[in-house]
Amino acid sequence: MKTIETILLRRSVRTFSEKVPDSDTVTKTLEAARWAPSGLNNQPWRFLVVTDRETREGLARFTRYSEVVLGAPVSIVVCLDLATSYNRDKDIMAIGAAIQNILLAACSLGLGTCWLGEIINRKAEVARWLELGKELEIVAVIVMGYPTGPREEGQRRPLEDFLIKK
Ligand SMILES: Cc1cc2nc3c(=O)[nH]c(=O)nc-3n(C[C@H](O)[C@H](O)[C@H](O)COP(=O)(O)O)c2cc1C
Repeated sequence: MKTIETILLRRSVRTFSEKVPDSDTVTKTLEAARWAPSGLNNQPWRFLVVTDRETREGLARFTRYSEVVLGAPVSIVVCLDLATSYNRDKDIMAIGAAIQNILLAACSLGLGTCWLGEIINRKAEVARWLELGKELEIVAVIVMGYPTGPREEGQRRPLEDFLIKK
């Protein structure tokens, strides 16, 4: 699928079939993340792939999107590696780029994803519960699986609204 088609096709998916994506497919999405740009090429991202039910149920307790987490066969906990970090703003931007690569790669492989940010309201608690250690700060959780139900239409304001006129 062409890149721009994938960008336009991707929508957040919050309901999934029970079919579990195989680990090679999930790895392909992480490979895409690995090739995201980063300041000084410091590659500050780290990923914890969660597939076991017990950990997914545990994660779900920390967010009001618990139904989404419980319904997804895969959750990827995306972290900033503080040991690698050199500039917080730039590192977070780089991780955003890595996350978008995951979403787009997943879409092109027929997988659905949703970027969950609300869970980071409790990021310290989640990190402690996952025993991630002091060097890793949670930036997001991505849920992943095969979509069920109709694709969301998606809504965006017109480009005109975003152009700064001088
Ligand atoms: C930083 C960020 C945080 C988000 N957090 C959540 C979230 O906690 N729960 C959720 O259901 N969707 C979350 N989303 C998904 C957005 O709601 C979604 O991307 C937006 O509504 C546009 O819809 P689309 O992704 O289908 O184009 C988040 C997206 C981003 C980029």
